[in-house]
Amino acid sequence: MGSQVDFLVMGAGVAGLRAAVELARHGEVLVATKESVGESNTHYAQGGIAVAMEGDEDVALHLKDTVNAGDGIVHRAAAEVLVAEGPVRVAELIEWGAAFDTEDGELLRTREGAHSLPRILHANGDATGAEISRSLAAFAQVHKRVRFAEWTTVSGLVVRDGRVIAADLLDRDHQLSRVSARAVLVAAGGAGQVYSDTTNPAVATGDGIALASQAGAALADMEFYQFHPTAISLPGVPRFLLSEALRGEGAYLRNHLGERFMERYHPLLELAPRDVVARAITREGMGDRPGETRLVHLDMRHIRGVDLHQRFPGITAFLAKHGLDLNRDLIPVRPAAHYLMGGIRTDLAGRTTLGGLYAAGEAACTGVHGANRLASNSLLEGLVFGARAAFSMLDDGLPLVAADAPEVFPQPLEPAEERGLEETVAALQASMWAFAALLREESTLLQGLAAQQEAAGALAQLAAPGKGSRRLAEAQAMSRVAEAILHSALARTESRGAHYRNDFAQRDDQHFRKHSIFSGGPSSPVAFETW
Ligand code: SIN
Repeated sequence: MGSQVDFLVMGAGVAGLRAAVELARHGEVLVATKESVGESNTHYAQGGIAVAMEGDEDVALHLKDTVNAGDGIVHRAAAEVLVAEGPVRVAELIEWGAAFDTEDGELLRTREGAHSLPRILHANGDATGAEISRSLAAFAQVHKRVRFAEWTTVSGLVVRDGRVIAADLLDRDHQLSRVSARAVLVAAGGAGQVYSDTTNPAVATGDGIALASQAGAALADMEFYQFHPTAISLPGVPRFLLSEALRGEGAYLRNHLGERFMERYHPLLELAPRDVVARAITREGMGDRPGETRLVHLDMRHIRGVDLHQRFPGITAFLAKHGLDLNRDLIPVRPAAHYLMGGIRTDLAGRTTLGGLYAAGEAACTGVHGANRLASNSLLEGLVFGARAAFSMLDDGLPLVAADAPEVFPQPLEPAEERGLEETVAALQASMWAFAALLREESTLLQGLAAQQEAAGALAQLAAPGKGSRRLAEAQAMSRVAEAILHSALARTESRGAHYRNDFAQRDDQHFRKHSIFSGGPSSPVAFETW
């Protein structure tokens, strides 16, 4: 027999921590996280948290901006919840110790792409996620009823009679245990690591999304992967995020000729919606011949009246390591995978299509972002829907069902197998970037699918003799998420938001003002629904 807990939370980003705080008022909570608490996509969020703190008109405008950015398929009821409950959740967070930047006692606000006014709160200049993560983790840790299982991978979900009753946990010493829970929350974030070029940390391998899908839960809108327009572009340097708040403070984008090119793409110029800016940079970065690339730069050299080093200390420190300075230099940029609008399909209370399983934050898809997330809405999403998921886990009052201990204990991989695993992962990531990134078409997506199937075969072979490890579980998760992205992108034969098809360049509201549902079935893996 395994152990038992009232609530199991997978992931220690903003959504998981916010839920844990709520759940701990009513029962024992175990938060499983693959590394230390705080190592999550939340931690790396720079720009801020968008929130309308000035009353009804402000909330209505935030709703309008969210819906407009989402390119026709934002689930309006979800967006209404986000903007209306956001101010309460942020005020609560401040009360719990989150220190946002202020001047003369007033919260400072900045602007980012597609926002009609400055409404983005920030902390320590460009370290908003780290502050939210720090303050929530500290608040959760004082609850005696929240326990953290750090360096622990959730390697499987146990389903009985259509309900998730337990999960398998693999710790850093390779020990596998099974824990039964009344309800399991997946708040394990996104999957940027599916792409070779990403702003996400190494932990963002889509584990929760893949586990939910393999257990039978529906995924939604998986074709909508957001590519952040401005990650650093230096040879051999990780794709560090250069916050949209730089453009909020007036940064220009310039092509290889030194031209500000955004006027050819959108009236909001550098503050156009993120999908528009990312595609524009991609196009400006293409040379005349296939494969030829051209540099695109962020330019802040003209900015006066803002101390850029003080306003962006993290970015300044990173650039300094590479001999660059916002005041002096053009900064080379190109897009990188950043945020998954799709995920595990949930209702507005975090319920998935599978009993006992709940999801919130980037791992979930309520439809709140539609086809393109409004900048800085993701931390808010984690707070609002993390709390909501906890409320429904409590309301549903599911009983504990004791699960048997796992029967098979995985054997570690040999060094040669680990090398083979890394090669398979790298090939998958490179093929996703080559075939399913910003500009796609049927032929590239089919090539991507062939590469994914090859990777899935190699991973199945590695696992077949009873082998298992965190990395193998991550690789299997990335493969499953890639499969869902590729099938969903093939099925959506139009262009909308972050999903751009060269072979179907127009938005097609008649057929596709809908959400895609990936069930993974062999004959028809994707269906479309109106929400
Ligand atoms: C950024 O700072 O540009 C990222 C914020 C976000 O992803 O919304």
